[in-house]
Amino acid sequence: MNRVINVANRLPVTVGRTISKSSGGLVSAMSHLGDSMDLRWIGWPGSHPRSDAQRQKLTERLVAEFQCEPVFMSRQEVDDFYFGYSNSLLWPILHYNTSDMRQHDTWWQAYKEINLRFRDAILRDVRPGDCVWVHDYQLMLLPALLREADINLRVGFFLHTPFPSYETFRCIPQREELLRGMLGANVVGFHTYGYMRHFRSSAIRLLAADAEINSIRQEHHVCHMGVYPIGIHIAAFEEEMDSDAFTSECQRIRETHQGKRIVLNVERLDYSKGLRGRLEAIDRFLELSSDKQKIVFVFIAVPSRGEVRAYQELREEIEALVGRINGKHSTIHNTPIQFVHDSVNFTELCASYATADVMLVTPIIDGMNLVAKEYVACRRDESGVLVLSEFAGAANELSTALIVNPYDVDGMTATLQQALDMPVEEQKSRMIPLRRIVTENNAQRGANRFLGDLSRDVEPAGGSGSTTSVGAELVDGFRGASSVACFLDYDGTLRAFERTPEAAQPTERINRILGRLSHATGVDLYLVSGRSRQNMSEWFGGLSLTLVAEHGAACRPPGSEQWQPLVETVDLSWRPQILSIIHEFSLSTPGSTVEDKHTAIVWHYRKCDPEFGAWKAQELTSMLSDLASNLPVEVQQGHAIVEVTSNQFSKGHALRHFVKDSDHDLVVCVGDDTTDEAMFKVEDPRLYSVKVGRGPTAAMRRLPNCEAVLDVLEEVAALAPEGRDG
Ligand code: UDP
Ligand code: G6P
Repeated sequence: MNRVINVANRLPVTVGRTISKSSGGLVSAMSHLGDSMDLRWIGWPGSHPRSDAQRQKLTERLVAEFQCEPVFMSRQEVDDFYFGYSNSLLWPILHYNTSDMRQHDTWWQAYKEINLRFRDAILRDVRPGDCVWVHDYQLMLLPALLREADINLRVGFFLHTPFPSYETFRCIPQREELLRGMLGANVVGFHTYGYMRHFRSSAIRLLAADAEINSIRQEHHVCHMGVYPIGIHIAAFEEEMDSDAFTSECQRIRETHQGKRIVLNVERLDYSKGLRGRLEAIDRFLELSSDKQKIVFVFIAVPSRGEVRAYQELREEIEALVGRINGKHSTIHNTPIQFVHDSVNFTELCASYATADVMLVTPIIDGMNLVAKEYVACRRDESGVLVLSEFAGAANELSTALIVNPYDVDGMTATLQQALDMPVEEQKSRMIPLRRIVTENNAQRGANRFLGDLSRDVEPAGGSGSTTSVGAELVDGFRGASSVACFLDYDGTLRAFERTPEAAQPTERINRILGRLSHATGVDLYLVSGRSRQNMSEWFGGLSLTLVAEHGAACRPPGSEQWQPLVETVDLSWRPQILSIIHEFSLSTPGSTVEDKHTAIVWHYRKCDPEFGAWKAQELTSMLSDLASNLPVEVQQGHAIVEVTSNQFSKGHALRHFVKDSDHDLVVCVGDDTTDEAMFKVEDPRLYSVKVGRGPTAAMRRLPNCEAVLDVLEEVAALAPEGRDG
């Protein structure tokens, strides 16, 4: 396996007065991967050494002892980038908490600058063949910055938080930039399919992205999306549980809480973790319980982001709530809640899990939640009850836990009682499948799947070749042939799509290339489009080439102003019926329009809600296809269109018409759409066919986008004066 450069805002160690392990799920999930692969970290060490010499010294130590390359920030940058944009704007929005979202005019600039600083650190370090794995919301711009710097880098991005629905994500002022940043990756990973679906929907709605189920086409690469539920490093827990320190710590905890059942809570002190509702449920439970003296609720609340106002307020509120509940239910012999606002070491953590009868994990929203998995890992005797929020990503996997709705306080109170009353046999029957999942779907496996997808080359269905090889083959073909027929589609082939068909006018570069090719000796150029005759005359009438309009219904030879039908008598009796159905659809689908091209009728839905439009397009296609079986028409779906054309002609018919008895020794055709497949399928040994973009095709070769087509044509056109003309 190649080297992995693991890039996260926080390094697995934090530098304070001493160097200690960092908190949080990201570090837990990733920190042991270095045991089985060549892994190097790039990230923030959590401190701000002032002088160059101090920074240098710390860098040397972190590299030598921890394989960590530090990225430093000034105090002001930490305020703006980390406490500000990352944790006062992004984190709340990603967790559906719009009311705690804050803004400040310096934050976005700092976010961009720190992402650039990470890019520079990576570029200094990266070697050919490395995979760069970027983590989490603090670095959303980084994949695209890396892609711009080096088109061939393999970049993966994994989001450890939820990705909220489009309705929430769109609150972010810089939402488009963030999406574009993530889309720079070759693979973008999420904990659940729900988060991936939300990301895709935001990209479609905000960027009009060209999306398949699990990929989004970008200008020069395809961004694949996937679900990789991250796990824990089982071996570290197993090893810890074999230690003497663990055994004595368990003993100590049992002695401390002798005669009591332990209900454990472990989390960073964060508003996403559902502490308020859980404490209310505990309060109610204590009100109802007859033997509350026999239960202790242990809270390990790990300090987190203490300089953010929302976290300070949360801390005050929770401490006050704990105080109130303890005041209400304590006796001189018993205090029900033991609240620790501190982190614990690994031995204490494992022993706490191993000795707890019940574990409460009730976030109101959580990307994954590893604490739930860690509790399961520490239940070697298969006893214990995990109460888990349905809003944690982990609930997708840990379905035999007691699943609760964290907003339903009464429901949580009842579930807590159920957990405490659960017979050991039922505990085991629930815990055994949980342990199997946590063991099998461990951190290593999740990371291997992600990195496996990142290292794989995904070849599209049908059509092969790179821009360079297609360019070279065509140049050779043109050089070797005395007469070439060249059929070019326009929209999606020479010109990228715009919001409206009228907006996709030919650029100066397109006109220059077409002009040059059309004058090359021995080259017959055909522009074969679905556009109307009028539109084609208007845009291309001045060029010396053959125009073929309406998918092959009519042509206009070079130098002529007259259109000639390519089929003598066309049966158009189907028009009224089809027109009325399509009209009906346009009324019930806001934003859609009907284009009547006489020999074809087109329903456009590019300006509709993209998912609604696509759904209605399926419905319309299937309705029209049923009808079409009795009519002389063909129904085709293209880029944001459904088109009904007479089946008496097609681009394939047109191509055949022109080359049937011709003396061309090379016939080139290039197109991107389903209507172009008719050209690709023409059986002629002289044919060289090129599909533009993704999707299954009958074409021999493939180019990624319009720009690549223009690059290739430019190369071919350059031959004209030297090679072909001369
Ligand atoms: N954890 C920690 N320090 C502690 C207690 C727990 O670092 O004092 C770890 C815990 O073991 C878990 C992580 O913090 O691996 C929390 O991850 P989780 O996915 O549950 O939530 P996150 O903090 O990432 O939101
Ligand atoms: C969550 C985030 C991580 C973050 C961790 C700890 O797990 O997804 O990106 O590192 O919390 O938060 P902190 O702000 O201390 O890095």
